[in-house]
Amino acid sequence: MERRFLLNDRLVELGPDERGLALAWLRQRQGLCGTKEGCGEGECGACTVLLGELSPRGVVYRAVASCLLPVGELPGRHLVTIEGLNPPTGLNPIQQQFVDEGAPQCGFCFPGMVVSLTGFFLDSADLSVNDGLAALDGNICRCTGYAAIVRAVTALAATYRPLLDPTRARVDQLAEWGILPAAFATAAARLSTLGAPPIERFDTTAPAVLFAGGTDLIVQQPDLPAAADLAYLSRRPELRVIERELDELVIGGAVTIEEFGHAPEFRALVPDAPAIVGRFGSTLIRNRATVAGNLVNASPIGDVTILLLALGAKVVLSRDGRRRTVPLSEFFLGYKQLAREPGELVAAVRVPASVAGDLVSFEKVSQRRFLDIAGVNSAARIRCRDGLLERVTLAVGGVAPVPLSASSTAAYLTGRTLDAATALAAADVLESEIAPISDVRGSAGYKRELARRVLFAHLLRVAPDRLRVEELV
Ligand SMILES: Cc1cc2nc3c(=O)[nH]c(=O)nc-3n(C[C@H](O)[C@H](O)[C@H](O)COP(=O)(O)OP(=O)(O)OC[C@H]3O[C@@H](n4cnc5c(N)ncnc54)[C@H](O)[C@@H]3O)c2cc1C
Ligand code: FES
Ligand code: FES
Repeated sequence: MERRFLLNDRLVELGPDERGLALAWLRQRQGLCGTKEGCGEGECGACTVLLGELSPRGVVYRAVASCLLPVGELPGRHLVTIEGLNPPTGLNPIQQQFVDEGAPQCGFCFPGMVVSLTGFFLDSADLSVNDGLAALDGNICRCTGYAAIVRAVTALAATYRPLLDPTRARVDQLAEWGILPAAFATAAARLSTLGAPPIERFDTTAPAVLFAGGTDLIVQQPDLPAAADLAYLSRRPELRVIERELDELVIGGAVTIEEFGHAPEFRALVPDAPAIVGRFGSTLIRNRATVAGNLVNASPIGDVTILLLALGAKVVLSRDGRRRTVPLSEFFLGYKQLAREPGELVAAVRVPASVAGDLVSFEKVSQRRFLDIAGVNSAARIRCRDGLLERVTLAVGGVAPVPLSASSTAAYLTGRTLDAATALAAADVLESEIAPISDVRGSAGYKRELARRVLFAHLLRVAPDRLRVEELV
């Protein structure tokens, strides 16, 4: 059973008693204290590390939160901490640029930012400023140093973007620029000599906790990786595939939110997918959180859940070799109650390819624009020709015990001509099919008002020439 992995430039092996979370393991067992502990819940970025995984195109590195990463996920992979990015002497170019701009005010958030920006250098297609800033969306600076951080990222992009040679391996170029240590160039060859890590059984005869990205599980039960047997779904290649099958797009259950939002196959159906998915958590969270995890979490305000509901997706469930398919609109039975039997795996989600050409609109109202859970969210799929609403599906979150398919509202709109009277009447129908409650995210009345507003936002987006905001009050 393979227990070895690369830690920076060293091959290490997990002992049988080494369980728990990577953050504690790094700091307490390895003495690598450059990785800091802040929130312990994936919200601050102080614990950012890179996780590299062998793929047909070399090692793919993603910035992730080590406070949500069990060490059991590490065998066969490359874990990179800030110590693994520090040059033997002095500072690397990212660190130096931050110093030049006066960006780092403390050693607490700065290491995580350097690791996230290294992830940007490894991953961004064109090293744009926007990509650089987006890479830091999960790294909080508590001292209001953001202007200097923006200057540092802008300067880094201005320096290295023109040097980028798309025909050469990225790690080789980054090593030449001093952004990566030379050891990265041999990581793929070293990882390929390791055996496959074990794939735990999880069927009815050997129940184990199904563990995907852990972004819900670890927040709720931080001791879980130390205490329970976990079945790591990320090790199952068949759950990580995105492929077209006739008139449907099949998205494996363990596909991450980031992979899902940027997959060319999904963008062919929903061109706005990267921006929509960009409202989900942060890069650190999206790099681990999965599509199936969002569905099984069953939160009434799951963002990907709401999007998939509006797209008319179906859920493929499997257990002990048997498969069945359930429309997503019938998957949620009550608050956190699913039409899923114990031990059943969400193997995939199927999205109808007929979505292509329809407008897909997503709205999320949260107290912060980024890294926040919605008060109310909503997605709509609309086909409108010359003002005629030919097809409408609508999903709204945060207004019922379950993620809601607003089928009465969609039925009301379908076949009507879009104008202010139609929009206002549809909002009344929507109010009749929602039942929000007051909670920390707002009062029931506020959420009712938000539900009306997000519906108007969808309709304004589909036909901005047919509606005026002033009419929709
Ligand atoms: C900082 C932070 C920000 C967040 N922001 C958002 C946000 O903006 N929007 C949002 O919607 N959510 C957000 N979340 C919640 C979370 O990231 C999502 O719900 C995510 O999709 C969960 O996926 P996961 O792979 O991490 O699930 P896990 O935590 O691994 O699992 C969640 C549940 O699903 C089960 N499960 C996982 N995969 C399968 C499968 N294939 N088959 C059957 N059961 C399975 C697990 O057993 C567990 O019960 C955030 C979380 C954090 C920590
Ligand atoms: S400690 Fe805050 S994200 Fe991990
Ligand atoms: S750099 Fe640490 S608080 Fe701003």
